[in-house]
Amino acid sequence: MKNFIERSVLSFNLTKTVIYTLEYRIIYFLSRSFSPYVKAPHRENRKDLIEYLRNQVIEIHKIDAENVANNIYPIDVIIPKASRDHVKNLPKLLLDSLRISRRRKLNIKNDINQEDLGDTPDYLNRNYHFQTDGYFSEDSARLYEHQVEILFSGTAAPMRRRLIQKIKEAHSFERPIRILEIGAGVGTASVDFAKSFKYSSYIVSDVSSPYLKTAKKRLKGDFEFVKARGEDLPFKDEEFDLVFSVYLFHELPRSVREQVIKESHRVLKKGGVFAICDSIQKDDDPLLNQVLEGFPLDYHEPFYKDYTLWDAKNSLADSGFKNIHTDHKLLSKYWTATRD
Ligand SMILES: C[S@@+](CC[C@H](N)C(=O)[O-])C[C@H]1O[C@@H](n2cnc3c(N)ncnc32)[C@H](O)[C@@H]1O
Repeated sequence: MKNFIERSVLSFNLTKTVIYTLEYRIIYFLSRSFSPYVKAPHRENRKDLIEYLRNQVIEIHKIDAENVANNIYPIDVIIPKASRDHVKNLPKLLLDSLRISRRRKLNIKNDINQEDLGDTPDYLNRNYHFQTDGYFSEDSARLYEHQVEILFSGTAAPMRRRLIQKIKEAHSFERPIRILEIGAGVGTASVDFAKSFKYSSYIVSDVSSPYLKTAKKRLKGDFEFVKARGEDLPFKDEEFDLVFSVYLFHELPRSVREQVIKESHRVLKKGGVFAICDSIQKDDDPLLNQVLEGFPLDYHEPFYKDYTLWDAKNSLADSGFKNIHTDHKLLSKYWTATRD
């Protein structure tokens, strides 16, 4: 039975990878045909790299399948979150890819309606990934998850939820817990986390109102939605058993990253767990260093290079965290740490 579950999950995940890869090819073709941009140097001689990445993609899907078979999370996490929206959004997404490509070509990074920003800090006033409206419109929120899955060939969700496995290795969490998610975006990880932990309260937080609004629409159940910056959390000391973030840190300036860690330490209960899933860093996998160099150029990520060089373990220890563990697979890296 376990083997059957593993094989089924693997086949299902690989099918998603085929679909997203196909969509990537279409977008690439459209962008190159209608709005060509200068090729980044890392795009040369890619054959070996693609072969290597292909094997890593299969690996991450195998890990996902094992985690389902071992009850780390339930099987329904693999069901696409919004298949109807996927088809409905496709034409918009293809059209938007041309706008993105144009922005990339002309290096337009601050094409954001300032009225939508409100009191957002300066470092966020930009088109991350050259995406339309940055993180500050409902249209952007609608397309975001789909765009990320295309970028990662359908491995983004499995890479995100591998953090659940890492957290469960750090703590058994037998009783219902209080969870805080920082930079939750449109709630992609929240769906899987809520199915995998017993919780008495789950706070989904982000700095973007439109992204939170979209998260609110999709997350039915016992969630609280709070607009908050990770570096200035509106919570009391020692409120949570688990604080985590996914793909947040690489988008923050170093001083903000350090402050998010301090704030997470402050709001965690003693013995609580802090967990991060983010990009791999320089030399985690030397074969992928060239991908790390190209990514910030192609996807407008101004703090990414510094992130890849940042010693997160040191920052966690400086803030008082103990039992710091790291691991990485494909393009994602995981940290877990406990508050003393
Ligand atoms: C790359 S997205 C990741 C979203 C989501 N966690 C995911 O896995 O798809 C980064 C998210 O962090 C949010 N964000 C950026 N800076 C933030 C900050 N200082 N505090 C809280 N959220 C922030 C953005 O609005 C965006 O939703």
